[in-house]
Amino acid sequence: MIRMRAKTNPKHDLPLNQILKGDCIDVLKSLPDNSVDMVFADPPYNMQLGGDLHRPDHTKVDAVDDHWDQFDTMKAYDELSKAWLKECYRVLKDTGTLWVIGSYHNIYRVGATLMDEGFWILNDVVWRKNNPMPNFRGTRLCNAHETLIWASKGEKNKFTFNYDTLKEMNDGLQMRSDWLIPICSGGERLKDEDGKKVHTTQKPEALLYRVLMTASKPGDVILDPFFGSGTTGAVAKKMGRNFIGIDREDFYIKHAQKRIDAIETGDMASLQITGKREEVRIPFSMLLEHGLIEPGTKLTCSKGKKSATVHSDGSLISNNEKASIHKMGAKLQDAPSCNGWTYWHTKSKGKAVPIDELRKLMRQKVAQAHMVGRSQTESVDKPQMLS
Ligand SMILES: C[S@@+](CC[C@H](N)C(=O)[O-])C[C@H]1O[C@@H](n2cnc3c(N)ncnc32)[C@H](O)[C@@H]1O
Repeated sequence: MIRMRAKTNPKHDLPLNQILKGDCIDVLKSLPDNSVDMVFADPPYNMQLGGDLHRPDHTKVDAVDDHWDQFDTMKAYDELSKAWLKECYRVLKDTGTLWVIGSYHNIYRVGATLMDEGFWILNDVVWRKNNPMPNFRGTRLCNAHETLIWASKGEKNKFTFNYDTLKEMNDGLQMRSDWLIPICSGGERLKDEDGKKVHTTQKPEALLYRVLMTASKPGDVILDPFFGSGTTGAVAKKMGRNFIGIDREDFYIKHAQKRIDAIETGDMASLQITGKREEVRIPFSMLLEHGLIEPGTKLTCSKGKKSATVHSDGSLISNNEKASIHKMGAKLQDAPSCNGWTYWHTKSKGKAVPIDELRKLMRQKVAQAHMVGRSQTESVDKPQMLS
């Protein structure tokens, strides 16, 4: 039985935080156009394993030989890819992105199909496993990675990318496209009542954490059409995102539900995305409007050698010329560009302080006003002057 549109959220008309049972193509067709913020898909690999694989000690390797991974022909696999990608394209918001993970067995075919369906590839990410399964027969390289494709709905489409958050997560360095993350093992691996692995391809939560931190915000709706053991739902719940999962197998659904039910959502304040690109834009004139700086104030560069006077409209005047804080800074240094916020200084307690400090004060006040649900401009309390 396909459980569709049960308990829909009236606001979004979406079955939020539910696992829907059925073939993903049928279930996807029941979801509205342009409605989810992100898709994470871990489709069948189409591994086409011929016979059992054994370790040197003759024990059988727990390989992906599940019935859901068997396809008679490449054409049948490509048809499935085309069908689910087409539906995901429709269901995804124009600002949304798709992530799909696969191995060399399938990712190139899926990549070509997603481009045919209109997706625009933003990056491919190599998930490098620091504890991969060896190539027991020694006949090929140890297959130590999987590939993720990250794509938007078109070349010009805007999308969420938490650049500064990722940089913060990477010790201040720009996040790269090769991610070293261990495979799922130990306590994280779901086991059934007999202690057997619930799912052969359970993904590590750390991988989903990185994906969600890259391209989603708290409150977003994350759709996973091949839900399996529910890793996407588990991480989404922890991180204050909503999820919609789809899988055909009762067994996986039962265990995924149990797993998700046991999870607590993190404290929402600590889940908020922070970063420069998320910060409210503060025009220099706003400092004047809110009394943080007065018209006629003399601003100088850090060494005091260049100076300009603040005009009441938020521009600066120097040598009978008028320009923005950035343009004036660039002009006086004979430079192609300048960040006026860090270049220009004002006096506080006899010391030269960058005007960026005033901008920070202004931001705090705007954020406070925002938190109490008031409109930014009318309710901002007059911020404290730097004294
Ligand atoms: C590679 S696994 C996903 C594993 C998952 N990411 C996890 O961490 O547990 C693929 C899943 O897709 C499901 N599946 C395969 N074909 C499907 C289809 N046509 N419709 C719905 N589910 C399907 C399988 O039952 C399997 O659980």
